[in-house]
Amino acid sequence: MILVLDFGSQTAQLIARRIRDRHVFCQLVRHDLSAERIRELNPKGLILSGGPASVYGEQSPKPDPEIFKLGIPILGICYGMQLACQVRGGAVKPGAKREFGRTELHAKASDGLFANLPAASTVWMSHGDQVETISDEFISLAETDTCPIAAVKHQSQAVYGLQFHPEVTHTQFGTQLLENFVKQICGCRGTWRMSSLIEREVAAIKARVGNARVICGLSGGVDSSVTAALLYKAIGSQLSCIFVDNGCLRKGESDKVRDRFQNHFKTDLHVVDASERFLKELHGVSDPQQKRKIIGRVFIEVFRKEAESIPDARFLAQGTLYPDVIESGGHADGPAATIKHHHNVGGLPEELGFELIEPLRDLFKDEVRRMGLELGLSEELIWRHPFPGPGLAVRLLGAINPDRLDKLREADAIVLEELRKAGLYRDIQQAFAVLLPVQSVGVMGDGRTYEDVIAVRAVTTDDFMTADWYPMPYPVLQKISTRIINEVRGVNRVVYDISSKPPSTIEWE
Ligand code: XMP
Repeated sequence: MILVLDFGSQTAQLIARRIRDRHVFCQLVRHDLSAERIRELNPKGLILSGGPASVYGEQSPKPDPEIFKLGIPILGICYGMQLACQVRGGAVKPGAKREFGRTELHAKASDGLFANLPAASTVWMSHGDQVETISDEFISLAETDTCPIAAVKHQSQAVYGLQFHPEVTHTQFGTQLLENFVKQICGCRGTWRMSSLIEREVAAIKARVGNARVICGLSGGVDSSVTAALLYKAIGSQLSCIFVDNGCLRKGESDKVRDRFQNHFKTDLHVVDASERFLKELHGVSDPQQKRKIIGRVFIEVFRKEAESIPDARFLAQGTLYPDVIESGGHADGPAATIKHHHNVGGLPEELGFELIEPLRDLFKDEVRRMGLELGLSEELIWRHPFPGPGLAVRLLGAINPDRLDKLREADAIVLEELRKAGLYRDIQQAFAVLLPVQSVGVMGDGRTYEDVIAVRAVTTDDFMTADWYPMPYPVLQKISTRIINEVRGVNRVVYDISSKPPSTIEWE
């Protein structure tokens, strides 16, 4: 195992994930974890992450100084390198100018950390400070035009530093550098697999939960499903799952959840059909934020009532992933700066009174997918496009009523069915139908019609923060359009959305 001490870098968890990709178990821990505790955990190496602070700032986060005496190999990245050098008498100063982005690195070494790397390569920098001088205990391993000490090595101990970020994909040989550190320097063999993580999580959940009952809210999506499958593996019949039908779900969603969690995994599944209640409160509402608020509030009320009916429930499991955690400001006591409030965090309020279990908190989405497949969830579920909590309500522009919801639900099912048939579903990250709040003129048979318009949206994206519209093949568009107009009553026109994000968003509301 390798431990990453987290000094608040936005990419700290990415370091852990790159190392796990090389089949070495790696976990992020607090930056001030005591040397004694680290000794107990017995890692083969420590990585000090980057961070937004300055090492000479008064409040700057510092590690336990004893970690440098543990004899465990250490790699400092950016702020972490500055810390390691400062501890040994180096000077850290603000650089001539702050440096962000790609730059060319010239390596002076070709072994150890730099084994299998060319002398020149592209690296990614993001720093204000840099190491200006090093004590003669260190030697410089590489430089860039603006940063004469871009990588260092201690003369006699296994302490290394990199001013740039090897964990980001813009650093050309970043993965090789991390692999060199964990394999050549720390001696890890690379035998770890996802199944070992499942075993580890299962053991941790069992130890924490004991004989108590755990509730897990299912949304039909990947994260909550993997959480439930993992808990089921750990505690079986002590797990109760709650699935709330808010009346704004996709076609067949409830049945799929039943099939998965009642027939396949035999969990104690509570399907609460609260659609009538939701639709009553949403009736006639057209303001998007109002729709979200109503759905959020009613969901909590319905969920709470169902949870209270389950005797002896003590824990609540949630499928929070690592990116949800960074985007909403990270661990409450951590040094990371808040970036953005994410939809998925804090879906249920703390005052529900349960202790939280978040077994996916350290994982990225693709790791969660791998875990889900290993736990026996279907490919169809694992690669399902994300679906927003407020569901069809925010894809039905204008006032909500059951008829309009049904229309949208049918059109949406046709879009997805045709994309699957054409083998395009996996090329697209999110696709759906939107029901517009306008009517347009058409002609059907001999008569003039004045009916609804459906917009089809399909996007490709890496992270949902930016997205491109998908260049859908004409025959597929044609099939979708013909089917919607023929099969969905009250729709006489279909349009395709060709807007990118930004400036548009993925959803229409
Ligand atoms: P936008 O429309 O902001 O969407 O480009 C980015 C991603 O977020 C999803 N989204 C939501 N998810 N509740 C959710 O759970 C919401 O209110 C919500 N609004 C947008 C959207 O589907 C896309 O994946």
